[in-house]
Amino acid sequence: MAPVNPIRVTERAQALAGEVLKPGDIAIDATAGKGRDTAFLAMAVGPKGHVHTFDVQAEAITATQNLIDAAGLNSLVTLHHRSHVEISEALPANHQHQVGAVLFNLGYLPGSDQKIVTQPASTLHALQAARDQIRPGGRIICVTYTGHPGGTDESNIVLQFAVASEKAGYTISKVGYFTDSAKPWILVVTRT
Ligand SMILES: C[S@@+](CC[C@H](N)C(=O)[O-])C[C@H]1O[C@@H](n2cnc3c(N)ncnc32)[C@H](O)[C@@H]1O
Repeated sequence: MAPVNPIRVTERAQALAGEVLKPGDIAIDATAGKGRDTAFLAMAVGPKGHVHTFDVQAEAITATQNLIDAAGLNSLVTLHHRSHVEISEALPANHQHQVGAVLFNLGYLPGSDQKIVTQPASTLHALQAARDQIRPGGRIICVTYTGHPGGTDESNIVLQFAVASEKAGYTISKVGYFTDSAKPWILVVTRT
Protein backbone atom coordinates (compact mmCIF):
# COMPACT_ATOMS: atom_id res chain seq x y z
CA MET A 1 0.00 0.00 0.00
CA ALA A 2 1.16 3.57 -0.67
CA PRO A 3 2.40 5.51 2.35
CA VAL A 4 0.21 8.25 3.77
CA ASN A 5 1.16 11.72 4.90
CA PRO A 6 -0.84 14.47 6.61
CA ILE A 7 -1.84 16.00 3.28
CA ARG A 8 -3.00 12.87 1.55
CA VAL A 9 -4.39 10.88 4.46
CA THR A 10 -7.98 12.02 3.90
CA GLU A 11 -7.83 11.21 0.18
CA ARG A 12 -6.47 7.79 1.04
CA ALA A 13 -9.33 7.24 3.50
CA GLN A 14 -11.86 8.18 0.84
CA ALA A 15 -10.25 5.80 -1.65
CA LEU A 16 -10.51 2.98 0.93
CA ALA A 17 -14.24 3.70 1.24
CA GLY A 18 -14.63 3.93 -2.54
CA GLU A 19 -13.15 0.43 -2.91
CA VAL A 20 -16.15 -1.17 -1.22
CA LEU A 21 -19.04 1.24 -1.86
CA LYS A 22 -21.58 0.33 -4.51
CA PRO A 23 -24.26 2.50 -6.14
CA GLY A 24 -27.35 2.37 -3.91
CA ASP A 25 -25.36 1.74 -0.72
CA ILE A 26 -25.89 3.35 2.65
CA ALA A 27 -22.79 5.17 3.99
CA ILE A 28 -21.95 7.06 7.16
CA ASP A 29 -19.71 10.06 7.72
CA ALA A 30 -19.17 9.88 11.50
CA THR A 31 -17.39 13.27 11.71
CA ALA A 32 -18.84 15.84 9.29
CA GLY A 33 -16.28 18.64 9.71
CA LYS A 34 -16.35 20.71 6.54
CA GLY A 35 -18.38 18.04 4.73
CA ARG A 36 -15.82 16.86 2.21
CA ASP A 37 -16.11 13.21 3.21
CA THR A 38 -19.90 13.47 3.10
CA ALA A 39 -19.76 14.87 -0.44
CA PHE A 40 -17.38 12.10 -1.48
CA LEU A 41 -19.60 9.38 0.03
CA ALA A 42 -22.76 10.84 -1.55
CA MET A 43 -21.14 10.79 -4.98
CA ALA A 44 -19.94 7.21 -4.39
CA VAL A 45 -23.38 5.84 -3.42
CA GLY A 46 -25.16 7.79 -6.16
CA PRO A 47 -28.81 8.78 -6.54
CA LYS A 48 -30.18 5.48 -5.18
CA GLY A 49 -27.95 5.51 -2.10
CA HIS A 50 -27.93 7.54 1.10
CA VAL A 51 -25.42 9.07 3.51
CA HIS A 52 -25.95 9.71 7.22
CA THR A 53 -23.62 12.36 8.59
CA PHE A 54 -22.92 13.13 12.25
CA ASP A 55 -21.30 16.01 14.08
CA VAL A 56 -21.74 17.58 17.51
CA GLN A 57 -20.64 21.00 16.24
CA ALA A 58 -23.24 23.35 14.70
CA GLU A 59 -20.54 24.99 12.56
CA ALA A 60 -19.67 21.62 11.00
CA ILE A 61 -23.31 20.82 10.26
CA THR A 62 -23.75 24.22 8.59
CA ALA A 63 -20.55 23.87 6.55
CA THR A 64 -21.60 20.39 5.41
CA GLN A 65 -25.11 21.58 4.53
CA ASN A 66 -23.63 24.39 2.44
CA LEU A 67 -21.27 22.05 0.62
CA ILE A 68 -23.90 19.45 -0.25
CA ASP A 69 -26.36 22.16 -1.32
CA ALA A 70 -23.74 23.66 -3.64
CA ALA A 71 -22.91 20.23 -5.05
CA GLY A 72 -26.59 19.30 -5.60
CA LEU A 73 -26.28 16.33 -3.21
CA ASN A 74 -28.77 17.50 -0.62
CA SER A 75 -31.39 14.79 -1.23
CA LEU A 76 -28.81 12.04 -0.70
CA VAL A 77 -27.72 13.13 2.76
CA THR A 78 -29.31 13.22 6.22
CA LEU A 79 -27.42 15.46 8.64
CA HIS A 80 -27.56 14.44 12.30
CA HIS A 81 -26.54 17.18 14.72
CA ARG A 82 -25.73 14.63 17.41
CA SER A 83 -22.85 12.45 18.55
CA HIS A 84 -21.71 9.51 16.47
CA VAL A 85 -22.21 7.46 19.64
CA GLU A 86 -25.89 7.49 18.61
CA ILE A 87 -25.39 5.96 15.15
CA SER A 88 -27.64 2.97 15.85
CA GLU A 89 -30.47 5.08 17.30
CA ALA A 90 -30.27 7.56 14.41
CA LEU A 91 -30.45 5.17 11.46
CA PRO A 92 -33.96 4.45 10.14
CA ALA A 93 -35.14 0.82 10.29
CA ASN A 94 -34.60 0.22 6.56
CA HIS A 95 -30.94 1.32 6.78
CA GLN A 96 -30.00 -0.73 9.86
CA HIS A 97 -27.11 -3.18 9.29
CA GLN A 98 -26.94 -2.23 5.56
CA VAL A 99 -24.00 0.15 5.69
CA GLY A 100 -21.27 -0.16 3.06
CA ALA A 101 -18.72 2.21 4.60
CA VAL A 102 -18.31 4.34 7.72
CA LEU A 103 -15.68 7.09 7.65
CA PHE A 104 -14.26 8.54 10.88
CA ASN A 105 -11.85 11.47 10.72
CA LEU A 106 -10.94 11.96 14.37
CA GLY A 107 -9.55 15.00 16.18
CA TYR A 108 -10.80 18.57 15.81
CA LEU A 109 -11.95 20.66 12.92
CA PRO A 110 -9.00 22.80 11.73
CA GLY A 111 -9.79 26.51 12.01
CA SER A 112 -12.59 26.06 14.56
CA ASP A 113 -12.95 25.44 18.31
CA GLN A 114 -10.17 23.00 19.19
CA LYS A 115 -11.96 22.17 22.45
CA ILE A 116 -14.54 20.30 20.38
CA VAL A 117 -12.53 17.21 19.72
CA THR A 118 -13.34 13.52 19.51
CA GLN A 119 -12.84 11.72 22.84
CA PRO A 120 -11.39 8.23 23.39
CA ALA A 121 -14.37 6.75 25.27
CA SER A 122 -17.06 8.01 22.90
CA THR A 123 -14.90 7.17 19.87
CA LEU A 124 -14.64 3.55 21.05
CA HIS A 125 -18.39 3.40 21.65
CA ALA A 126 -19.06 4.87 18.19
CA LEU A 127 -16.64 2.49 16.46
CA GLN A 128 -18.43 -0.45 18.10
CA ALA A 129 -21.84 0.91 17.03
CA ALA A 130 -20.54 1.48 13.49
CA ARG A 131 -19.16 -2.06 13.24
CA ASP A 132 -22.55 -3.40 14.20
CA GLN A 133 -24.08 -1.55 11.23
CA ILE A 134 -21.83 -2.68 8.37
CA ARG A 135 -23.04 -5.18 5.80
CA PRO A 136 -20.92 -8.14 4.60
CA GLY A 137 -18.09 -6.65 2.51
CA GLY A 138 -18.51 -3.28 4.18
CA ARG A 139 -15.86 -1.49 6.20
CA ILE A 140 -14.99 1.15 8.75
CA ILE A 141 -12.20 3.56 7.87
CA CYS A 142 -10.86 5.56 10.80
CA VAL A 143 -8.29 8.35 10.34
CA THR A 144 -6.48 8.68 13.67
CA TYR A 145 -4.21 11.49 14.91
CA THR A 146 -1.76 11.59 17.79
CA GLY A 147 -0.54 15.21 17.67
CA HIS A 148 -3.25 16.98 19.73
CA PRO A 149 -3.85 16.69 23.51
CA GLY A 150 -5.57 13.36 24.08
CA GLY A 151 -4.57 12.11 20.63
CA THR A 152 -2.23 9.40 21.88
CA ASP A 153 -4.89 8.02 24.24
CA GLU A 154 -7.40 8.01 21.41
CA SER A 155 -4.95 6.32 19.05
CA ASN A 156 -4.40 3.60 21.67
CA ILE A 157 -8.16 3.09 22.00
CA VAL A 158 -8.46 2.72 18.22
CA LEU A 159 -5.68 0.11 18.31
CA GLN A 160 -7.53 -1.71 21.09
CA PHE A 161 -10.65 -1.72 18.91
CA ALA A 162 -8.56 -3.13 16.03
CA VAL A 163 -7.35 -6.04 18.15
CA ALA A 164 -10.87 -6.78 19.42
CA SER A 165 -12.25 -6.62 15.87
CA GLU A 166 -9.62 -9.03 14.58
CA LYS A 167 -10.46 -11.44 17.38
CA ALA A 168 -14.13 -11.12 16.40
CA GLY A 169 -13.31 -12.23 12.83
CA TYR A 170 -13.05 -8.93 10.96
CA THR A 171 -10.17 -8.24 8.56
CA ILE A 172 -7.95 -5.47 9.88
CA SER A 173 -5.32 -3.35 8.21
CA LYS A 174 -3.32 -0.31 9.25
CA VAL A 175 -2.35 2.23 6.64
CA GLY A 176 0.44 4.57 7.70
CA TYR A 177 4.03 4.75 8.81
CA PHE A 178 5.50 2.22 11.22
CA THR A 179 8.55 4.41 11.77
CA ASP A 180 6.83 7.68 12.73
CA SER A 181 4.19 7.39 15.42
CA ALA A 182 3.48 11.15 15.26
CA LYS A 183 1.89 10.88 11.81
CA PRO A 184 -1.79 10.16 11.30
CA TRP A 185 -2.72 6.62 10.45
CA ILE A 186 -5.79 4.82 9.17
CA LEU A 187 -7.48 1.77 10.64
CA VAL A 188 -9.50 -0.30 8.17
CA VAL A 189 -11.94 -2.88 9.55
CA THR A 190 -13.63 -4.96 6.86
CA ARG A 191 -16.49 -7.38 7.42
CA THR A 192 -15.76 -10.40 5.23
C1 LIG B 1 -11.17 16.29 11.70
S1 LIG B 1 -12.81 16.90 11.77
C2 LIG B 1 -13.61 16.01 10.48
C3 LIG B 1 -13.24 16.45 9.07
C4 LIG B 1 -14.25 16.06 8.00
N1 LIG B 1 -14.37 14.63 7.84
C5 LIG B 1 -14.07 16.77 6.67
O1 LIG B 1 -14.18 16.11 5.60
O2 LIG B 1 -13.88 18.01 6.66
C6 LIG B 1 -13.44 16.14 13.22
C7 LIG B 1 -14.91 16.49 13.50
O3 LIG B 1 -15.38 15.61 14.52
C8 LIG B 1 -16.40 16.30 15.21
N2 LIG B 1 -16.73 15.60 16.46
C9 LIG B 1 -16.12 15.67 17.67
N3 LIG B 1 -16.74 14.85 18.55
C10 LIG B 1 -17.76 14.24 17.89
C11 LIG B 1 -18.77 13.30 18.25
N4 LIG B 1 -18.83 12.79 19.48
N5 LIG B 1 -19.66 12.91 17.30
C12 LIG B 1 -19.59 13.41 16.03
N6 LIG B 1 -18.67 14.31 15.63
C13 LIG B 1 -17.76 14.71 16.54
C14 LIG B 1 -15.84 17.70 15.37
O4 LIG B 1 -16.86 18.63 15.64
C15 LIG B 1 -15.15 17.90 14.00
O5 LIG B 1 -16.00 18.58 13.12
